[in-house]
Amino acid sequence: MANYQRITPDQLRSRYWFDNPDHPGTTALCIERYLNYGITLDELTSGKPIIGICQSGSDLTPCNRHHIDLVKRVKDGIRAAGGVPFEFPMHPIHENVRRPTAALDRNLAYLGIVEVLHGYPLDGVVLTTGCDKTTPAALMAAATVNIPAIVLSGGPMLNGWRGAERVGSGTIIWELRKRLAAGDIDYAEFLSRASDSAPSIGHCNTMGTASTMNSMAEVLGMSLPGSAVIPAPYKERAMVAYDTGTRIVDMVWEDLRPLDILTREAFENAIVACSALGGSSNAPVHINAIARHSGIELDNDDWQRLGHEIPLLANVMPAGAFLCEEFYRAGGVPAILHELHTAGKLHVDALTVNGRSIGDNLQGCETQDPDVICRYNDPLVDHAGFLNLKGNLFDSALMKTSVISRDFRERFLNDPNDPDAFEGKVVVFDGSEDYHARIDDPTLNIDSRTILVMRGAGPVGHPGGAEVVNMQPPEALIKQGIESLPCLGDGRQSGTSGSPSILNASPEAATGGGLALLESGDRLRVDLKRGEVQLLIEASELEARRERLAQQGGYRYPGHQTPWQEIQRSMVEPLDRGMTLEPATKYRDVARRHPPR
Ligand code: FES
Ligand code: MG
Repeated sequence: MANYQRITPDQLRSRYWFDNPDHPGTTALCIERYLNYGITLDELTSGKPIIGICQSGSDLTPCNRHHIDLVKRVKDGIRAAGGVPFEFPMHPIHENVRRPTAALDRNLAYLGIVEVLHGYPLDGVVLTTGCDKTTPAALMAAATVNIPAIVLSGGPMLNGWRGAERVGSGTIIWELRKRLAAGDIDYAEFLSRASDSAPSIGHCNTMGTASTMNSMAEVLGMSLPGSAVIPAPYKERAMVAYDTGTRIVDMVWEDLRPLDILTREAFENAIVACSALGGSSNAPVHINAIARHSGIELDNDDWQRLGHEIPLLANVMPAGAFLCEEFYRAGGVPAILHELHTAGKLHVDALTVNGRSIGDNLQGCETQDPDVICRYNDPLVDHAGFLNLKGNLFDSALMKTSVISRDFRERFLNDPNDPDAFEGKVVVFDGSEDYHARIDDPTLNIDSRTILVMRGAGPVGHPGGAEVVNMQPPEALIKQGIESLPCLGDGRQSGTSGSPSILNASPEAATGGGLALLESGDRLRVDLKRGEVQLLIEASELEARRERLAQQGGYRYPGHQTPWQEIQRSMVEPLDRGMTLEPATKYRDVARRHPPR
């Protein structure tokens, strides 16, 4: 247990608002309105920590909606430990409904949480998370403001089933779309089978972005050990909500803050664990963003250097076969960390919210089921982390190697002299509307060796960056049994997708990235060993294209629909730098550097 200098009640931040004899008028104004629903003067002025609960659940956000009930247990815990809870809303973020994309709201929610944590009488905060972007938004804000903070995820849904077959969130949709295109099922069956994947409250039950990012919160040390993937309806979920409430009060007294926990070592642990989990391709974007707000430079070279050699240990969809219920029963995140620890891959001294090191928390956490959480020396895939590819069209693009299928290897990585490289002709789409309008056009001559390219899908081209790079082949090819083609793009893809697309190409076409210069019919060479994607043309031709594009005023993309889209586009950084708001990244530890006034 770390040794903390405990603070005293008169050092509580909330005293400025609620017990400040130097400013009696201000204090009275702050206090009087909280009394109007029954809070007592004693609760506000007797030296109890005031604990915010950032509520991410609402009727608009079904993945997080049960936090409306869970926070009752959080409040019980806060009260039992001597604190006073104050619940407030997070800007809603629901992944698969929000248009143009939920990622647009990560930075908006971040800004909102920052302002609440800084501007209100809070000594600590419980951050309720779940659906994909709620978790990074909360962690980014925790790092910026740096008051004691703890993450409580809502947990995944129960397993989905169709008969005896597991049905995984999101992953089933990608499969069913192919069945629909092939004519195997009709629209009614498509909808019926898709709904099998959502049998209960909770977030996606696959290792999509939600399960990944909540696991990352635990690995970073920001949520209680073992809590990330407790299924939402399980009794243990409500129990850990209570424990989270009691713990945040102690964290306030211990003055244990996010920036004590979010260290370089913690982020390196996150990279390693993400590979072992077969985690979402959105994780590098969000983890790099949380790191930037924590004052730590982390980039996609770090992801490849530290993460690529790590084997796949979690046998969970989309990279594996099971879902989060089995993953939890097999030991969840602690069992993954235990395996990484035995292999010497973890910084064991990294601190966590319970005041202990991540290594101390792993006592007795071996895998309970090696079919679901594999031993490090008997993994599902040997090198399962991300590759950071570069070339003459972009500086960084990620490939999730844990999902490279045998079919993909046999069709593309099949040259015995050069088994890590392939070449192909490209067909280029400008955004998802263009893709949907033209993918079945026979004049494109898409064949089994074509590389599909999506551009105009980065955070500027499509506000927030579209999850559209995992493009399905034309119906005609699917009917011939060709279910996937290599894809490349400057957008993202869903964490529930099993496609080994080359993603997040930065800089994007809309900000001068080389994908804007690509023309259908060009040939690309992808070399995974060298970490390169090269457009096979003369440098002079590439330069001539660049000049022509500049004369035309650069790459065109759709206009803004809302004020926030325009504001974000004016200051957002590329995906490889976390898609952060550039001016926001210079603010850090603002609760102490800029106390209330
Ligand atoms: Fe919300 Fe997947 S859609 S977690
Ligand atoms: Mg998504």
